[in-house]
Amino acid sequence: MSIEPSPMRIGIAGLGTVGSAVLANLRLHGDRLALVLGRRIEVTGVSARARKKDRGVPLDGIEWFDDPVKLAASPKIDTFVELIGGAEGPARAAVEAALAAGKHVVTANKALLARHGFELAKAAEAKHVALLFEASVAGGIPVIKTMREALIGNEIKRVYGILNGTCNFILTKMQEEGSAFEAALAEAQAMGYAEADPAFDIGGQDAAHKLALLTSLAFGTRVAIDEIHCEGIEHIRRADIEAADELGYRIKLLGVALKTETGIEARVNPAMVPKDSAIGEVSGVTNAIEIEGDFVGDLLLVGPGAGAKATASSVVSDIVDVARGDCMKPFIIPAAKLKAHKKATLGSHKGAYYVRLSVHDRPGALASIAGRMAAHEVSLESIVQRRPRADAVAPTKASASGVMQLVLITHDTVEAAIRRAIKLIEQDGNIAGRAQVIRIEKL
Ligand code: HSE
Repeated sequence: MSIEPSPMRIGIAGLGTVGSAVLANLRLHGDRLALVLGRRIEVTGVSARARKKDRGVPLDGIEWFDDPVKLAASPKIDTFVELIGGAEGPARAAVEAALAAGKHVVTANKALLARHGFELAKAAEAKHVALLFEASVAGGIPVIKTMREALIGNEIKRVYGILNGTCNFILTKMQEEGSAFEAALAEAQAMGYAEADPAFDIGGQDAAHKLALLTSLAFGTRVAIDEIHCEGIEHIRRADIEAADELGYRIKLLGVALKTETGIEARVNPAMVPKDSAIGEVSGVTNAIEIEGDFVGDLLLVGPGAGAKATASSVVSDIVDVARGDCMKPFIIPAAKLKAHKKATLGSHKGAYYVRLSVHDRPGALASIAGRMAAHEVSLESIVQRRPRADAVAPTKASASGVMQLVLITHDTVEAAIRRAIKLIEQDGNIAGRAQVIRIEKL
């Protein structure tokens, strides 16, 4: 007589678009996954805010929990799937309760991991359970699995890429269709790409959460969200996008992490990238992550970075890993061995810069700007005078009349030097509004 292996019983907390897509996936692919695993995955409990809501997937036979913490600790589940979101509140309480009760945890919650990843990893390791979070970075792209498994024979030198689909969607719409920022954002929200508060997308925080996790996985350091330099795309104007195009660049919100002599440089910022580079050609909600390993060389992963189905695909892959019995360390090496994150001084970053100035059209203005740059040893590769656009004076609302748009591209220079020069140029009174300064990224 054959004995059926016991199913893996999961509880899912959070039945928004991703949670519902996970349920739909497990229904659709349940039989095939059971063949792969030799055991079934059974959803035995769910928890969400509204019980009555129509989610397009039946919940018959699944126990309902009003309180996700109760579900997390329930003896009726083996694995807790957290899709609530947020670094604190019910998501954190439920994940902590699940780990304390010795349950495996699968989560898509980048904010939670970026803020509390180190403590949660220690808690998971103490109980010898899994804490997997593939869906938390770049939606459907299996970047964590790639770093944890396929690239384990490499020392990672640099990891960078487009980590926020909403921003890439907005920048693409502005560039390709001339859309206004707000209209492009509204479209991204309507398509379900944006965070509940889209300020987290456009301010760069969402990408910073993801970069904090990638940094830790790449360099064996404790997750340190507060050490990630974060700039968003809210100050990017069509004037910049058009100037970039004329100069052979695209503007992308990039997350970049690398080791430098002074520590780890980890930053999210709008960047100019060559338009014919692999990253430059990535458009719409698509994400792309380049990983540089000492043996593999450069590896580029491109795919859907947001959206319910793509994110559910990653959640299900983690659930299957748990069901298979893979109980890897959350951050690859034991939490106790993760080093403290030593932050590099961004002032010593060396690179080229794009600078756009709305210069008052009067004698001596240009000479004064050039003088400030020269005094700080900032050498200019090109100077282009452009027709002013109505939206070009950023970020104040100063009038664009009587000003000319000046776009400067510098040779490689030290960040501290150009920042000092720009501060003085702003104080000199020859420009309207603030200078727009964008790093040019060497890819
Ligand atoms: N709001 C995120 C994005 C969703 O636009 O990339 C995935 O984290």
